[in-house]
Amino acid sequence: MTELKTIGVVGAGLMGHGIAQVSAQAGYEVVLVDADGAALEKGLGVVRGQVEKAVAKEKLGAADGEAILARLTGATDVAALAGCDMVIEAIVENLEAKNGLWRTLDEAVQPSCIFATNTSSLAVIDQAAVTSRPDRFIGLHFFNPVQVMRLVEVVRTIAASDEAVRAGIAYGERIGKTAVETRDRAGFLVNRILVPFMLDAIRGFEEGIGSIEAIDAGFRLGAGHPMGPLTLNDFVGLETLSRAAEGMYEEYRDARFATPPLLRKMIAAGWYGKKTGLGFYDWSGPEPVPNPKIDLLRTV
Ligand SMILES: NC(=O)c1ccc[n+]([C@@H]2O[C@H](COP(=O)([O-])OP(=O)(O)OC[C@H]3O[C@@H](n4cnc5c(N)ncnc54)[C@H](O)[C@@H]3O)[C@@H](O)[C@H]2O)c1
Repeated sequence: MTELKTIGVVGAGLMGHGIAQVSAQAGYEVVLVDADGAALEKGLGVVRGQVEKAVAKEKLGAADGEAILARLTGATDVAALAGCDMVIEAIVENLEAKNGLWRTLDEAVQPSCIFATNTSSLAVIDQAAVTSRPDRFIGLHFFNPVQVMRLVEVVRTIAASDEAVRAGIAYGERIGKTAVETRDRAGFLVNRILVPFMLDAIRGFEEGIGSIEAIDAGFRLGAGHPMGPLTLNDFVGLETLSRAAEGMYEEYRDARFATPPLLRKMIAAGWYGKKTGLGFYDWSGPEPVPNPKIDLLRTV
């Protein structure tokens, strides 16, 4: 297997800047591209800030910090990606936008380059198919925040070559993650199991199996989860959860992935979870308290 040396990252937002940072830290030459110059500067600035902080805290030597930053360059034009060995895309979650980018990259980047999408919900093959290299096209699904979360899912499409999948796994391991291989099915590996679980916690609550606090305590204390599923729903955002569920429902046509009635109504009421202050919990005070409007098993 030929070793990858130069990694291109397109999209310098929440995910892209993190992917660029962990790649540069692992010794790759990195070219970070964002069509929006201000977004590019912001992403590069966050990486610079994090590396400088690590140097200040003596978690990283000054020379190593400088070397990491020297390996990272930014550009607003995809022409800068021409010589890359792998390009990872982290732009908006929209198939038309992604395919527009892939068509341009297919022309602009050397034919041996492996393409990888960080999509959360789109089928990887739908993107691979618009390029001339579907065999060298994989999914690399990172978790937020990229610098902290230790998993990357390597997604094998029906058209991907073993070599491309192996290259994705080798890249994931070199950046210090555990790389798990999975197939190109909605939700990939983690969300395929996690999303129906998060929805089922809502269904159980609707059925009256227990209060909000009882369900969350059950999973923290009885199953060793770091947080209960209803708290997790509020952290993820109820509209984000529902969107992920709908995408999986579209693909599988299985009731496990359908949005439960209560979830739909909470979204309609504008309760999106922590970000709006109200979800399964009321987040407006110093400590979250179960949302009294829906906690049917509360004692009155
Ligand atoms: N946010 C998450 O928790 C998460 C987790 C896993 C995967 N993802 C996926 O990662 C991708 C990026 O998500 P994000 O949260 O980082 O988004 P974001 O909005 O923070 O960043 C996207 C960036 O892409 C840039 N961009 C848009 N179109 C472009 C184009 N044609 N060419 C170059 N740059 C372009 C934008 O200027 C923006 O800076 C999405 O596909 C998303 O589904 C997100």
